[in-house]
Amino acid sequence: MRKLFLIGSLMLLTAIAGDVQAQIEVKTNSGAAPEFASSVSCAKCHLDIYNYWKDSLHAGALSDYIFQAAFMIALKDKGDGVRRVCLDCHAPVTLVNDDVMLEQPISTEAITCDFCHRIANVDLGRGENTVTLTAGKEKYGPLKPQGSADSHPSVQSNLFEDSKFCATCHQWNNEQGVAIFDTYREWSVGRYAEKGVHCQDCHMPLVEGALVTGKPRKPGERINSHNLSGGHSIVQVASAATVKIVSVDRVAGGLHVVVEVSNVGSGHMIPTGIPSRALVLEVQLLDARGNVVETERYTFRKIVLDSQHNEITVDADIILNGALISKDNRIPPGATVSIPFDFAASQQQNYLVRALLRYTYKPLVLKEEEINIEMGSDAKRP
Ligand code: HEC
Ligand code: HEC
Ligand code: HEC
Ligand code: HEC
Ligand code: HEC
Repeated sequence: MRKLFLIGSLMLLTAIAGDVQAQIEVKTNSGAAPEFASSVSCAKCHLDIYNYWKDSLHAGALSDYIFQAAFMIALKDKGDGVRRVCLDCHAPVTLVNDDVMLEQPISTEAITCDFCHRIANVDLGRGENTVTLTAGKEKYGPLKPQGSADSHPSVQSNLFEDSKFCATCHQWNNEQGVAIFDTYREWSVGRYAEKGVHCQDCHMPLVEGALVTGKPRKPGERINSHNLSGGHSIVQVASAATVKIVSVDRVAGGLHVVVEVSNVGSGHMIPTGIPSRALVLEVQLLDARGNVVETERYTFRKIVLDSQHNEITVDADIILNGALISKDNRIPPGATVSIPFDFAASQQQNYLVRALLRYTYKPLVLKEEEINIEMGSDAKRP
């Protein structure tokens, strides 16, 4: 690890492994590097929050089997140098302890409490975000400190209720300058940013629970959910979009159908995040007996090409080798889009048109497979 001393006691930690440069930089507000405490130690006093967090994709950002498969592909393609790139966000403690081989237990806690709650400042650069962490004992958070005895010092910070906090990892350009994770920007130009509705308002709603275990400040105390459900939550996804057939007209030789899809509940493009996610609109023509005569599909997604202008669909490939976005027809927050479909149909018959919207994501995962190959056989009669 290379350490660069800036003005006064500000320390800049830039982690460089091989020739791959980290794209999240970490500074600390004192001469020392922070010593991260395990989430288990926080659970002693913040059990309810811990329980929400431990099942989140933040806690599972390393163990998540979809990440595991992508990480293995990245390692195979680019070697160990790529660890630095992926672990910046999936195991951010390694930005400080440089444990890219993940040998220390704290590194494997992925996006752990003590990383987020040491964040004192975030600067969004162009493709490179800089995070300032405290090296002290104080925890940053959204609340006004009440000076409870028997706790660590706390600092109230508005950043914790601001989308910029999340942009640390949810806004990122790869080495080719392609915006792979673009969620913060999508939000910032949309109607929710205008209304002051931040990521936390939708993804960390107030839920039942005590701030400090066994010591509720008032009956029915509430905490911010640390579960952060997104594309892996059926409830969250189902609330995001609506589909409506606005017209079915008989035209020469068939039917002309217009279907509207609206992004009613998502704070950013739908889908957002990793570009391999797609929304598929399926429109079916059924005959009078209810049999499907024809199916047409329209896909909403961001298409990423490599430097040879071939479309890439494998997550690791997109993140590392994406060189160009050739098309992006995803639906912005609050927007409605109309998609026309034409079906060949007879003028006399009765039909039914059905529209279905699906959220799809087909990542590569490691599958247990039984290999059972016959290696020769023999048979003989007495
Ligand atoms: C010994 C009990 C105890 C432990 C262990 C503990 N906390 Fe706390 N924490 C508290 C108490 C009590 C408060 C409320 C402080 C106050 O009175 O304002 C608090 C408040 C907080 C807040 C709110 C700060 C704010 O201003 O919004 C955060 C964030 C926090 N703790 C994070 C953590 C993290 C992260 C850990 C583990 C590294 C941790 N705590 C470990 C007792 C504890
Ligand atoms: C991805 C970053 C992140 C991680 C990881 C995280 N927190 Fe938080 N935490 C936040 C944010 C952001 C808020 C404020 C949410 C708001 O006010 O809308 C918060 C709020 C809090 C609060 C104040 C009470 C509340 O509910 O608002 C405490 C205490 C706290 N977190 C403790 C923890 C503990 C303990 C863990 C680990 C088990 C943890 N956090 C993990 C980002 C994080
Ligand atoms: C330190 C980096 C980091 C920070 C800070 C961070 N995230 Fe994340 N977040 C991630 C990573 C990495 C994943 C993907 C984990 C996985 O599935 O492997 C993720 C996953 C998510 C998901 C789940 C997506 C899904 O597919 O279901 C949501 C929602 C989310 N984050 C919202 C937020 C919000 C809101 C904030 C701010 C309060 C935030 N994140 C802060 C890195 C971060
Ligand atoms: C108005 C509520 C709202 C706001 C604000 C919001 N989101 Fe979401 N988010 C959703 C819904 C609903 C979904 C599920 C549908 C989807 O995938 O878009 C979602 C999905 C996600 C996902 C999963 C990716 C996917 O498409 O499956 C991530 C990651 C995420 N949000 C991060 C963020 C971040 C970071 C911010 C702030 C910059 C933010 N969200 C702001 C409602 C919101
Ligand atoms: C700038 C931060 C950042 C970097 C660098 C990064 N990721 Fe992620 N990754 C995220 C965030 C944020 C999400 C969640 C967004 C979403 O769910 O679409 C995510 C999601 C993923 C997912 C989808 C997980 C799931 O469960 O759906 C995979 C796979 C993944 N990343 C692999 C990688 C690999 C491999 C690397 C290194 C080549 C990498 N990431 C580098 C931030 C990052």
